[in-house]
Amino acid sequence: MDLGIRGRKAIVCASSQGLGKGCAQALADAGVALVINGRNRQQLDKTADEIRRASGVEVTPVVADVSTREGQVALLAACPAPDILVNNNGGPPYRDFRELDRQAMLTGLTMNMVTPIELIQKVIDGMAARNFGRIVNVTSISVKMPLSGLDLSSGARAGLTAFVAGIARSVAAQNVTINNMLPGSFDTARLRDGFSAAAKRSVALESEIAEREREAIPAQRFGTPAEFGQTCAFLCSVHAGYITGQNIVLDGGAYPAAF
Ligand SMILES: NC(=O)c1ccc[n+]([C@@H]2O[C@H](COP(=O)([O-])OP(=O)(O)OC[C@H]3O[C@@H](n4cnc5c(N)ncnc54)[C@H](OP(=O)(O)O)[C@@H]3O)[C@@H](O)[C@H]2O)c1
Repeated sequence: MDLGIRGRKAIVCASSQGLGKGCAQALADAGVALVINGRNRQQLDKTADEIRRASGVEVTPVVADVSTREGQVALLAACPAPDILVNNNGGPPYRDFRELDRQAMLTGLTMNMVTPIELIQKVIDGMAARNFGRIVNVTSISVKMPLSGLDLSSGARAGLTAFVAGIARSVAAQNVTINNMLPGSFDTARLRDGFSAAAKRSVALESEIAEREREAIPAQRFGTPAEFGQTCAFLCSVHAGYITGQNIVLDGGAYPAAF
């Protein structure tokens, strides 16, 4: 399917690996010029080369912490008028909520709620004026389903979800959409870190924990960043202009509800 976005420009935050990289790759395959981002220069340059070689699109790597003011300025300087913004970031570490001090909570909120909102503030009026914009926020299934040890992540992302629900409606007439993607378990470094942390807290091996998690998913497998990215690219396509303010669950059936 031609997504109708060839020649468009995207900022994909936190995209040197994992889900962000999957989104960047799929957008590049659709002909979108990219600004990609991460804090580790070596990994980011490697990903930029890989995407450039595979797709032929222009890929600009911006080494920056997206949660900082300077990081956001650098991203916008590399792409002042993006047509597409994919908001992604690291997530808070797994932690019993009793161990979270005020600073840890503020840091989690900054990463997963304040940062995406700040970036939306910076791009949304330009998108509306140009009559095209696609904003996708990577959140988590934990917005809908409690995950022990990820309470801060759930709270910050639920806050973001509620915050953007009204904003999405305010720009729909200008062909600007805002949607959230809710990953369940995708095979990335973040998922594997979670298994390794769980193994340290229990007597089970990391591989046993991973196997138990996999078996609990109706699809009997973890998701891939590539399939996550293809859904993101579709939400950014011309065909998805009537989808806005939605929460798209990608979890192999793990969230056990009819609605
Ligand atoms: N994988 C899953 O199953 C899953 C499920 C639910 C929710 N999520 C959420 O989805 C998001 C992406 O997860 P993932 O699994 O793709 O993680 P990942 O494989 O660890 O990749 C994270 C990416 O974000 C970059 N990054 C992290 N912090 C950054 C920062 N402050 N500024 C700029 N770039 C940053 C990393 O590069 P550098 O480290 O070099 O900066 C890397 O490219 C996370 O918020 C995660 O909590 C993931």
